[in-house]
Amino acid sequence: MDEHLNELISDLKTYLEYLKGMGIDSLPISKNFLERPNPSDLLTLQRIRKELGDCKRCKLHRTRRTIVFGEGNERAALMFIGEGPGYDEDVQGRPFVGKAGQLLTKIIQSIQLQREEVYITNIIKCRPPQNRNPEPDEIETCTPFLMKQIQAIQPKIICALGTFSAQTLLKTNAKITTLRGKVYDLEGIQVIPTYHPAFLLRNPDKKKEVWEDMKKIQQFMSQIERTYPEGKDSR
Ligand code: URA
Repeated sequence: MDEHLNELISDLKTYLEYLKGMGIDSLPISKNFLERPNPSDLLTLQRIRKELGDCKRCKLHRTRRTIVFGEGNERAALMFIGEGPGYDEDVQGRPFVGKAGQLLTKIIQSIQLQREEVYITNIIKCRPPQNRNPEPDEIETCTPFLMKQIQAIQPKIICALGTFSAQTLLKTNAKITTLRGKVYDLEGIQVIPTYHPAFLLRNPDKKKEVWEDMKKIQQFMSQIERTYPEGKDSR
């Protein structure tokens, strides 16, 4: 019996290593893998947005103009997560549309992708007054919605833009300078932290590091394309 079990474990290990070699390093968790999810239980961005509603869960609702939910490909393999909306985003209701956003668009294009192919959102969905840093209670209130967005999209890679994004996703207080340059695992999703585009606008000498991070993302993306040749965003 023990021998049989050991053999089974060894076979399973080999199979998981084979999947890993194919770029698949997580398996869907299901109580019963024969059970198909009920379509009405499916987490969609539309449903998450509806649940968020005219959110008044934290104090930011008093000063915001618009909730900036996020935009892009609902089936994106790559997600960019920033900190929170700024002035332009608050006015337009879209993430990363100001100066930092224009730089983010160029960064995305530098790895031969378009904004529409990825999904872009923020840790918090409402602009803090005077663009101050998000406060812990605001992050805590908003993060469940971000987590649901991630669950719905099921990206393979998340690029965390800046300190707040990286710290929130990786549940750490480490600085972005310490966090960047490495790849982290978030339940099977590769998280690549990099400098925030707004920081890059003030410190253009840091572009080299961001370019290194982008090259890493590009490499992962080409692995995904090899595993799923029918399309970048398919799974
Ligand atoms: N900075 C962010 O972190 N997010 C935006 O959407 C815009 C600027």
